[in-house]
Amino acid sequence: MEYDDVVLGRRSIRGFKQEPVPKALIREVVEMAMRAPSSLNTQPWHFHVVSGEPLDRIRQGNTERNLAGVPDSREFRGHGGYKGEHRERQKQIAAQLFEAMGIDWGDKPRRQDWVLRGFRQFDAPVSVVVTYDRSIHGGDIAPFDCGAVTNALVNAAWSRGLGCVINSQGIMQSPVVREHARIPDDEVIMICVAMGFPDDSFPANAVVSERKSVDETVSFVGFPD
Ligand SMILES: Cc1cc2nc3c(=O)[nH]c(=O)nc-3n(C[C@H](O)[C@H](O)[C@H](O)COP(=O)(O)O)c2cc1C
Repeated sequence: MEYDDVVLGRRSIRGFKQEPVPKALIREVVEMAMRAPSSLNTQPWHFHVVSGEPLDRIRQGNTERNLAGVPDSREFRGHGGYKGEHRERQKQIAAQLFEAMGIDWGDKPRRQDWVLRGFRQFDAPVSVVVTYDRSIHGGDIAPFDCGAVTNALVNAAWSRGLGCVINSQGIMQSPVVREHARIPDDEVIMICVAMGFPDDSFPANAVVSERKSVDETVSFVGFPD
């Protein structure tokens, strides 16, 4: 695949074939992703690739705790709810996904069902939990490096016919993930990525998210007009 095909063609995948993903393919994708840049080449990341029964236990624990109202326990700082233009973009992608899935805004049970799918990591056959070394916890560089490698991971996966969704819902109940993915105490959980072969018949997989324009985003300084 050409670079353009990967970057312009990739989209988040939220419906997966229940076909196992070969370990060798995941290794290949991870190896490509790890070409991502990191601060001073420190590569603070780790990947815990979870499948089968342990992943089912994570799904179950996440679902039970979220339904029971257990507050989220993500291991990084949050900023509260989105407001203004950020909130508008959040609403836009939700509207696109709900439209594709035929979910009405007023249909609370189906909206809740969609949220629960997220907690189950969209029933993907694989979840890649991205962590970083606790020894450098507290600064912003390690999360930045994890972002770089996670973007590289979803693109590398796409180039090999795998679909992904980066999924913060999946690590909201971090003790559950830590226990069943067997994550050591000296690592901080950053994010997880649901991964598998895309189910092309799943309507939300066709959604193409929008981007703000280059003009809105970029300011050029010191260029002749
Ligand atoms: C840090 C992060 C967390 C995300 N968490 C979720 C999530 O919990 N549930 C979900 O459905 N999508 C999640 N996404 C996927 C975004 O909604 C998606 O990347 C965005 O809408 C752009 O769409 P695209 O990936 O199809 O280009 C997350 C993405 C990122 C980068």
